Amino acid sequence: MTNETWGFETKQIHAGQAPDPATGAVAVPIYQTTSYQFRDTEHASNLFALAEIGNIYTRIMNPTQGVVEARLAALEGAPDTAVGLPGALALASGQAAETFAILNLAGPGDHVVSAASLYGGTYNLFHHTLRKLGIEFSFVEDADDLEAWRAAAQPNTKAFYAETIGNPKNDVLDIRGVSDVAHEVGVPLIVDNTVATPWLVRPFEHGADIIVHSTTKFITGHGTAIGGVLIDGGSFDFSNGRFPGFTEPDESYHGLTYWPALGPGSYIIKARVQLLRDLGSAVAPFNSFLTLQGLETLSLRVERHNENAAKVVEYLAGHPQVERVNHSSLASSPWHARATELFGGKGYSSVPSFIISGGIEAGKRFIEALELHYHVANIGDVRSLAIHPASTTHSQLSEAELTRIGVEPGLVRLSVGLETIDDILADLELGFAAAKG
Ligand SMILES: Cc1ncc(COP(=O)(O)O)c(C=O)c1O
Repeated sequence: MTNETWGFETKQIHAGQAPDPATGAVAVPIYQTTSYQFRDTEHASNLFALAEIGNIYTRIMNPTQGVVEARLAALEGAPDTAVGLPGALALASGQAAETFAILNLAGPGDHVVSAASLYGGTYNLFHHTLRKLGIEFSFVEDADDLEAWRAAAQPNTKAFYAETIGNPKNDVLDIRGVSDVAHEVGVPLIVDNTVATPWLVRPFEHGADIIVHSTTKFITGHGTAIGGVLIDGGSFDFSNGRFPGFTEPDESYHGLTYWPALGPGSYIIKARVQLLRDLGSAVAPFNSFLTLQGLETLSLRVERHNENAAKVVEYLAGHPQVERVNHSSLASSPWHARATELFGGKGYSSVPSFIISGGIEAGKRFIEALELHYHVANIGDVRSLAIHPASTTHSQLSEAELTRIGVEPGLVRLSVGLETIDDILADLELGFAAAKG
């Protein structure tokens, strides 16, 4: 049950849910089952042929997961598919969502253009693992340079990819500009909206075609469950001649030709019935339940995260041991004007990063002295978190690679939590005192 006219806060609590038909339960039950009884052989064969939509096996769909999908589709503004399933697919992790986003469009001999400013795990996936599968990537160093996106496109290009807010660089994507170039080329723009969240920006409204999230972060919000989601805006025409996977029969799936059979929304159905069936990166029902618990308060948490982050950024910007702060709330940020317009005054996100004077050693001492902040490789938890990417998440990158994606040796990334702001600031001061050495 979803009412299109509901506001964001109503959707985050109610979208995609009706009282449990079996028990009347109000909280979404955890359907901890692998499989579902078929009524008879005809029912079973209809389900397999997509002639009827229903549960078959939890590797492909599950009712708890289904509410996550419907709710996130509603929050991002994705339409339902022709077969009535939501325009979203929940997966085991954000990395799985990115992998599916690309593999659903591209194979050996194909090419993708990506912004260079990326989360470290995505960087590895694109630079190494997907390359080993035969997909080539070109990286645009300055994602604001629309001519560079255009120049990087090739006849075998299948997608443009970028983060709406780069982690950890805090650059803010010109979603409209890059999507216009992608559409001229004839490919969809895939964006990772993890750091921004749909509460801050809804990329489909600005021209993006496909969204991925690591739900591990703000969406689940409490550091309890790894998860990801792929969302299809239904806006891109996959029958434009570039995507044979949509216009030629899928021998592995009853010879179905996705686009003529399903039209807009084919992308997300194909990802489920082909990729999820075969690769099996299914999300556990319990993790879907935890994601729903988090989703119910997404707007409230992100609002406070952003409010606390603005105060932390102000403190950092005035600190003598800080060489530079990366955050679009600062008037000095090259992305301040764009962020103000895109985020409509709702804040500027809460994963600022900064360069500490004294380089790599000062960065390490800073992190080790923090008492309230957890030293973890995560963001978007209610708790304040800190990490020194050069010695952790990005340690497998060479110095040249680090510089290219904006991870300088003294860069510290924070994920500003929901604690009392004075306590957060006092803890950062402990870090700076230690960093002096
Ligand atoms: C922006 C971004 N995208 C994707 C991911 C990967 O998500 P996951 O850890 O859920 O696989 C992360 C993880 O930190 C991230 O920060």
